[in-house]
Amino acid sequence: MTVELPSLASKDFLSILNLSPDALAQALDLAAVFKSERLKGRPHAHVLEGQHIALLFEKPSLRTHSAFTIAVRELGGDVIEPTSDVAFGGRESAGDVARNLERWVPIAVVRTFAQTRLDLFAASSSRMRVINALTDEEHPCQALADMLALIERWGALKGRTIAFVGDGNNVAASLAQASVMLGMHIRLATPVGFELNAGLAASVRKAAQCGATFTEGHDPVAAVQGVDAIYTDAWASMGQEDDAERRAGIFQPYQVNAGLMSHAAPGALFMHCLPAHRGHEVTDEVIDSPASIVFDQSENRLHTQKALLAMMSSR
Ligand code: CP
Ligand code: NVA
Repeated sequence: MTVELPSLASKDFLSILNLSPDALAQALDLAAVFKSERLKGRPHAHVLEGQHIALLFEKPSLRTHSAFTIAVRELGGDVIEPTSDVAFGGRESAGDVARNLERWVPIAVVRTFAQTRLDLFAASSSRMRVINALTDEEHPCQALADMLALIERWGALKGRTIAFVGDGNNVAASLAQASVMLGMHIRLATPVGFELNAGLAASVRKAAQCGATFTEGHDPVAAVQGVDAIYTDAWASMGQEDDAERRAGIFQPYQVNAGLMSHAAPGALFMHCLPAHRGHEVTDEVIDSPASIVFDQSENRLHTQKALLAMMSSR
C-alpha cells in the first residue's frame, strides 16, 4: 500500500493540542484510508519495517494496548513491552529509562498517571518520540478515534453539538480540545467539584476554531438539550478506585439513560470510550441501542493510532 504521509510537526504527541487543526484533519483522513484498505484485506503499510516501538503501560488497558500492538505490526514493526515495575517502579529514574530506550526505538507509547510524569519522560529524550496513551489529565488517542467515528456518521463536523456528561476527566479534556478544533460545540455537565481543571478548560477555549464553543455547567438535562451526541465515561477513573463508592452517589443524576437521551436531538448518538460500567454511568438500554457507536469508537482506535504512528515515523 502506498499512501501520502503527512508528518507531525512536534516531536511528541502528548496532547491533541500538539496537532494543528490541519494536522488533526490530515491524521483523520489518513486513518480513514488505513481503515478502508484494511477492510479490503490490505492491512499492511511498511513504514515501521524493521523497527521496534516501546509500549510502557503503568495502568491496565484493553483497547489502547491491543490497538497499538496490531497497528505497529501491520506497519511492519514489532513492539517491546518493558514491564511497569521496570519502566516506572523507581528502579531507575524515568529520564534514564527514556535515555536507554532512545538507543533502541524511535517511538515510545506511554500510559501513566500525572501528565507531568509523561512530560518529564518525553523531555528526557531529544530523539525518541513519545505518544500519550492516557494520563490522568488527557487521553488524546481516544479523541482521535472519537472524531473519526463522528465523521463516519456525520461527514462534516462543523456546527455539530455534543455533550459530555459525568466526570471532567482525561477523556472529557481531549474530547473537548478535539471537538472545538474541528469546529464543534461542546457542552460539559459535571457535578460541582468535578469540572475540567481550569488550565485544561482554558486550553479548550483557546483551541476553538470556526466559531466553536465550549460551555460548562452542572445540569445534565440542560447540557444535552437538542445535542447531536451524548458522551460519558467512568465516574471513577483508573487510580480513583478507592473513591468509587462516594462518587457513585454523587454522579447518579448524571447517568445516561433513556430519559436523558430523550432530551437530545432525534437520532442523537451515544458515545463512551469504554470500559463501561453498565448500570452506573450508562444503562444497558442506551449502550446496547442503535444510537450507540461505542464499538465503532473502539475499532477506530486501531486505524487512528496507525495513522499517528505513520505520521510520527515520517518526520
Ligand atoms: N478507551 C481506552 O483507552 O480503553 P483501554 O483502557 O482498554 O485502553
Ligand atoms: N477516564 C478513564 C478512561 C479509561 C479509558 C480512566 O482514566 O480510567
